[in-house]
Amino acid sequence: MPANDKKAKIGVLGASGYTGAELLRLLIPHPKVEIVLLTADRRAGKTVADVFPQFAPYDLPALRSIDGADWKAAGLDLAFCALPHGTTQKAIAALLGAAPATKAVDLSADFRLADLAAYERWYGHAHAAPELQKEAVYGLTEIYRHKVKAARLVANPGCYTTCAQLPLIPLLKAKAIDPDEIVVDAKSGMTGAGRAAKEEMLFSEVSEGFHAYGVGHHRHMAELDQEFSLAAGREVIVSFTPHLTPMNRGILSTIYVRGLKAQPQDLHAVLLKCYAKEPFVHVLPFGTVPQTRHVRGSNMTFIGVAADRIAGRAIICSALDNLTKGASGQAVQNMNVMLGYPETTGLEQVALFP
Ligand SMILES: NC(=O)c1ccc[n+]([C@@H]2O[C@H](COP(=O)([O-])OP(=O)(O)OC[C@H]3O[C@@H](n4cnc5c(N)ncnc54)[C@H](OP(=O)(O)O)[C@@H]3O)[C@@H](O)[C@H]2O)c1
Repeated sequence: MPANDKKAKIGVLGASGYTGAELLRLLIPHPKVEIVLLTADRRAGKTVADVFPQFAPYDLPALRSIDGADWKAAGLDLAFCALPHGTTQKAIAALLGAAPATKAVDLSADFRLADLAAYERWYGHAHAAPELQKEAVYGLTEIYRHKVKAARLVANPGCYTTCAQLPLIPLLKAKAIDPDEIVVDAKSGMTGAGRAAKEEMLFSEVSEGFHAYGVGHHRHMAELDQEFSLAAGREVIVSFTPHLTPMNRGILSTIYVRGLKAQPQDLHAVLLKCYAKEPFVHVLPFGTVPQTRHVRGSNMTFIGVAADRIAGRAIICSALDNLTKGASGQAVQNMNVMLGYPETTGLEQVALFP
């Protein structure tokens, strides 16, 4: 926590992207922080209001290039890094090299895989900051908050992976399901792909349709395998298929589990107990399932458990907003833990409906 209860000085690298905008939405009303530095790439030199008119009423620093930034002079207490994967390792190495007392929460995948060989295999290039990877803490807050508290560098989990891990990790730890029989069928809104223009993300290519992508090889599989293996205490290889759905925000995961050691109601009981005191995980009554519109714009994950009509199986549905709990909301939650603020500070927004 900054001395004398001063507001923490915060930087956002990649403030002109979608997760950057979501960070600004959450940080502007946050009572404990002051936004002092914002970076962009193509939009460097513009004001935030040029890029995101919704922020015009607020006094924010102009967007500047990350190149040549004087991290020492910036005196940041914490930086959020919302850059494309692959650019972040060098950016964070430069930042922490020049300003070792600054803390960082990285929203990209660059520091999520503890195994450097696995990183290279999944991302197709060697890790550019292997020393920093050793100290990075995987920031699924509900599971790792004791480690996040002491961390200088937190790797914020992916959006799909948060949505699947929150229901499955307690069940794997409780040995309530067969780790070899998990199928995660996930659907995401379009903001999950970021703001940069891509032909396949045009309205005319995505609207009025629905499709799977990354079938059999999506990179989030590596993160799921890592965390599910830790929870199960042995190697787990998960079946995961993401889909793109024509909506702006939200992820819904329909998760099929088999090999139940007890009744589906018992899975529900495990989750209810695990999350009874968690402010951002809500377990619905048995047999009811969440919708993305129930969590839109909030930092909540909603989880529902239902019986399958086939004995020994259950169906779990989990929903979150990919930009909030799936990215920037969880990043602010981690910041609160790292800086010693109450975890819910600035994150109590109720979902936006309709
Ligand atoms: N979108 C999601 O739902 C989501 C969820 C979880 C995690 N993430 C991760 O969060 C990170 C940011 O995602 P996003 O959706 O916000 O992406 P985005 O909308 O594409 O924004 C990327 C940001 O990085 C800047 N940038 C691009 N290339 C750069 C470079 N070479 N050097 C410095 N800055 C550069 C961009 O600046 P300009 O706009 O000025 O070019 C922009 O501010 C990604 O790693 C993503 O995988 C995203």
